[in-house]
Amino acid sequence: MAVIEWKSVYETGIVALDNEHRGLIQEINRLYEAVRDKKGEAVLGDILVMLEGYTVDHFQHEERLMAEYHYPGLADHQKIHHELIDRIQELKGKENFGTEDLAKELLTFLRGWVLEHILKIDKEYGAFLESRGGRFIE
Ligand SMILES: [Fe+2]
Repeated sequence: MAVIEWKSVYETGIVALDNEHRGLIQEINRLYEAVRDKKGEAVLGDILVMLEGYTVDHFQHEERLMAEYHYPGLADHQKIHHELIDRIQELKGKENFGTEDLAKELLTFLRGWVLEHILKIDKEYGAFLESRGGRFIE
């Protein structure tokens, strides 16, 4: 495992959303570095707070644009967003909350989720939104 380097293949094509995705990857990298240095538990709380804010702001942003441009996959996409929100709540309620192990578990989960989500699920709306509104819709 290593830090995630942003690559152009991660781009959805919608600049504002890509910038938000970059921000999330930066946070995952911060968690990675902390876990690597065995300081995961120190940043775990911060990361979860960030994730809760992110899942509200960024997911709403994506969903608003999908709705505005009548993207047909909106309902399915929303469902996937809710799964992440539930998973974060579940992690917060875990008995080993605040431990190094949980920080590691969160890191592994987030890396997998984000790469899969950005590379596959978000790409699907990318081309659609770009063809309707262009790259610079906000
Ligand atoms: Fe998404």
